[in-house]
Amino acid sequence: MRTKFSFLFICLSLFLTCFANYQPNWESLDKRPLPEWYDDAKIGIFIHWGVFSVPSYGYRNAGEWFWYRWKITASPAEAIFMDANYRPDFQYADFAPQFTAEFYNSNAWADLFKASGAGYVVLTSKHHEGYTNWPSVNSWNWNSMDVGPKRDLVGELEKSVRKRTSLHFGLYHSLYEWFNPLYQKDRANGFTTQDFIRTKTMPELYDIVKRYKPELIWSDGQWEADSSYWNSTYFIAWLYNSSPVKDTIVTNDRWGKDTLCKHGGYLTCSDHYNPGVLQERKWENAMTIDKDSWGYRRNAVLSDYITIEYLLQQLVTTISCNGNFLLNIGPAKDGTIPVVYEERLRQMGQWLQMNGEAVYGSKPWKYQNDTTNQHAWYTAKQGGDVVYAFLFQWSQSVTLRSPLASSSSATVDLLGGKPSLVWMPLKEKGVKIEIPAWSNAKWVMVLRLTGFK
Ligand SMILES: *[C@@H]1O[C@H](CO)[C@@H](O)[C@H](O)[C@H]1NC(C)=O
Ligand SMILES: *[C@@H]1O[C@H](CO)[C@@H](O)[C@H](O)[C@H]1NC(C)=O
Repeated sequence: MRTKFSFLFICLSLFLTCFANYQPNWESLDKRPLPEWYDDAKIGIFIHWGVFSVPSYGYRNAGEWFWYRWKITASPAEAIFMDANYRPDFQYADFAPQFTAEFYNSNAWADLFKASGAGYVVLTSKHHEGYTNWPSVNSWNWNSMDVGPKRDLVGELEKSVRKRTSLHFGLYHSLYEWFNPLYQKDRANGFTTQDFIRTKTMPELYDIVKRYKPELIWSDGQWEADSSYWNSTYFIAWLYNSSPVKDTIVTNDRWGKDTLCKHGGYLTCSDHYNPGVLQERKWENAMTIDKDSWGYRRNAVLSDYITIEYLLQQLVTTISCNGNFLLNIGPAKDGTIPVVYEERLRQMGQWLQMNGEAVYGSKPWKYQNDTTNQHAWYTAKQGGDVVYAFLFQWSQSVTLRSPLASSSSATVDLLGGKPSLVWMPLKEKGVKIEIPAWSNAKWVMVLRLTGFK
């Protein structure tokens, strides 16, 4: 009797765990709570890698869209590039054997991602070109085992990432494929047929989940058809109810042209999304170190890459407003990570070593930013007893209007620098803090305010 009762009690208190049964519709799927690891991690590394990493070219334009711009938009830049460098009958598929990945070392990649301070990694399993970075049986001769590296790129990274316990493994997956004849046929039929879904998209999505057990699916390429065409609510219901990752899987919002910024796990809304004001629902700022491109571009110049200051300002404004920060790099076709990307990731890691307590597991505060002589943004911990203020510029003293000291024993510390800074409450409202002339802090300074509200 007693055992039965406590079992029932546990199930009632963990209702969702014991009886989770989501229906294949958005109303039901949207009710699932987001697994906590995602919000706690705050920062992910996005990796765009594929056959597009071979031409690795885009004139002020995304390199991973090369094929589309060359063939569909008939962009002059891509046509000139091809005429100048390749024989006349060279096809996009001819790039695939040059996707060699001879320096690809997934352990070294995972070490770098760990050193960056990120908590998760999202690799393109398949971009819009349709080439799969794993040996998909549904992608004959257009996968990384048959042509190009002759390796399971996804599987190698999965193993390396899993060995580093601070990292979660995720996969990007494009629903649509520009040139897949089955997709083109479904589209010509006004999406009333689903042959492409039945034989390609769905078998592959189930395959990557069963093989690699990702904890995040970053869906994309949804915009031409409704989620009913993609069958995505059925797939997500399976993910949440009975997949091998049902308790930890996190999804985004790109599952049909009816879903962006509305349905799914968390919201991405648009690339580089950063609304600047608090959002009630968890969201993600997917942004990239090369301002113009997600895939690597050999023709990028230094000014095309964001600075560490800009990067950290994006990170801070994002997490202050309840977002996660997904920072993209584009490895080269040989598997190297170009050193400017590496430098940004290591700089971010260096900053997080000092300031991570203001980032990981933090929550938005009641105020997100402040009117001061600086740009100041906030996060909080422990129900708001500890408030962190991020300052984008140094000055001798800073005036913050929003934090109010609860008592004279309230303290202000500079992370990585001097503890117990001199502060005084302001008559009008807020606090004035003296900032030491020298400190280890750089790029963005973080003040820890304890005993303020
Ligand atoms: C959609 O998913 C359901 C449930 O798995 C399945 O029965 C149906 O065949 C799928 N449709 C397509 C086109 O894949
Ligand atoms: C906070 O930031 C937003 C967006 O950057 C800006 O529009 C707003 O003026 C800022 N608020 C204050 C009080 O500075």
